[in-house]
Amino acid sequence: MNAFHIPASCPHGGLRRWLRPAMIACLSWTAARAQPGVLDLTTLANYAGQAIPAYITKDNTPGNNAITNAGATLGRVLFYDKRLSRNDSVSCSSCHRQSLAFGDSATASVGVAGTTGRHSMRLINARFATESRFFWDERATSLENQSTQPIRDHVEMGFSGADGDPAFADLVTKLSGIEEYRVLFALMFGDATITEARVQSALGQFVRSIQSFDSRYDAGRAQVTADNIAFPNFTASENNGKALFLNPPGPGGGAGCAGCHRAPEFDIDPNSRNNGVITKIGGGTDLTNTRSPTLRDMAGPGGGLNGGLMHDGSCTTIEQVIAHYAAIPADNTNLDNRLRRPGGGLQTLNLSTQQRSDLVAFLRTLTGSAVYTDPKWSSPFSASDQLDLIIISSSAISLTPNGDGTATLRCTAAPGLSYQLESSPNPSSSGPWTGVTTVTADVAGQLVHTVSLSGPPTFYRFTYTPPAS
Ligand code: HEC
Ligand code: HEC
Repeated sequence: MNAFHIPASCPHGGLRRWLRPAMIACLSWTAARAQPGVLDLTTLANYAGQAIPAYITKDNTPGNNAITNAGATLGRVLFYDKRLSRNDSVSCSSCHRQSLAFGDSATASVGVAGTTGRHSMRLINARFATESRFFWDERATSLENQSTQPIRDHVEMGFSGADGDPAFADLVTKLSGIEEYRVLFALMFGDATITEARVQSALGQFVRSIQSFDSRYDAGRAQVTADNIAFPNFTASENNGKALFLNPPGPGGGAGCAGCHRAPEFDIDPNSRNNGVITKIGGGTDLTNTRSPTLRDMAGPGGGLNGGLMHDGSCTTIEQVIAHYAAIPADNTNLDNRLRRPGGGLQTLNLSTQQRSDLVAFLRTLTGSAVYTDPKWSSPFSASDQLDLIIISSSAISLTPNGDGTATLRCTAAPGLSYQLESSPNPSSSGPWTGVTTVTADVAGQLVHTVSLSGPPTFYRFTYTPPAS
């Protein structure tokens, strides 16, 4: 007895419908597995259950948008999709590149209508912080709120609804016409309706899922009980640099960095005001910047910086950063008091050449590796911007007799999506196939249904019809 499959067809813009017939018999067959440009919704990547070190305690996840595998998967597709810009040329990933810790090497990033007014920010460990406001000036009240601002920005992605741009509602219409999105929104939300709030939830989950905890700092921190204990895996210079970073300035003291960049997350103190870097890309003064991304992954695994540092990208080496804090150049009305001397005047750190290189050596221990290459944070699109979804597993339907004249059909599919179970006396694609019932895949992605074994041999298959627009 043979197994049969009905060839997949792609009548609608690349969505593959995999159909599996089963027979009361042995079954075996194989199909193409996931490859670039193919997103397998039956084996979602693990975003929700990633290991987080015990010493990491800060978390800004809102109560109504915990990471789910389906939600972050949709967020990943949105993040890499150029169709989120008005002329299909710019995606989030154009300015937030995985190979650069989701930052940009350009000082000003290129959008659909010019270049950005500030330097792009690395999107590493955005979740693991007390500060829940985003952007250099903290104008976004949450990561969800942040996530559609670039889409609505005239320069960045161009759905501003002003200056001749289409509006966000036009993007909703555009996405609703794309079959893959109707499937992916149904996967996350149970139905195919697309709204701005849903786009924000998905992008928020994806960005919050981007985590980097495999640095040398983490390897050391895991072996001791506190950040300020010397790490066994560090050189003397790195341990000295760590002590300088953590200890407050003052007689015999440190560089006071941790007052604002707090270990072990290296997130910014929400009360921080500006740090004295007040120039603007293209000229002028900007006193509004009070947020920094985590100081993790400033440099990549190869040692090069993941783009310039500060809101204007003005520091192109870590040494320049240290030089800035060692002699704050000028006062301003929004300068953080921690960078003023108690008795008046501006912070100067009396750092020796050795201490400066110790600080640099320490900051370089904050670089991880997996986040730069892990496929779950990479583009799901092929080089030619194609995306196919696998919505039912390439393994056959299994059929287990229950010993009472019935048998249980099982097939792996995409969790939460609903499939049609059909039967036929004839395994050919022409059937005739008759609808038996609708079966929804459970949280583990299993389609389960019990059938009767009496009567003539019967073939079964599951079919999937994407939601209509
Ligand atoms: C044209 C380039 C560009 C595009 C496209 C872009 N960004 Fe950004 N992103 C930036 C810049 C520049 C900043 C800093 C802007 C500021 O602070 O004013 C930023 C900041 C952010 C931040 C804040 C990080 C933090 O730590 O505060 C997040 C999150 C973010 N972007 C996510 C996204 C997402 C999601 C998309 C796609 C919907 C996107 N970006 C599209 C350039 C871009
Ligand atoms: C008073 C709070 C404060 C202190 C103390 C402080 N910083 Fe900062 N730091 C900030 C703020 C705010 C920013 C964002 C500034 C901007 O770009 O406008 C920042 C930005 C940075 C950046 C750029 C990050 C990026 O992704 O571009 C680095 C690196 C940095 N600080 C390192 C240090 C070091 C090293 C020390 C100690 C010598 C230190 N900071 C002390 C508040 C502080």
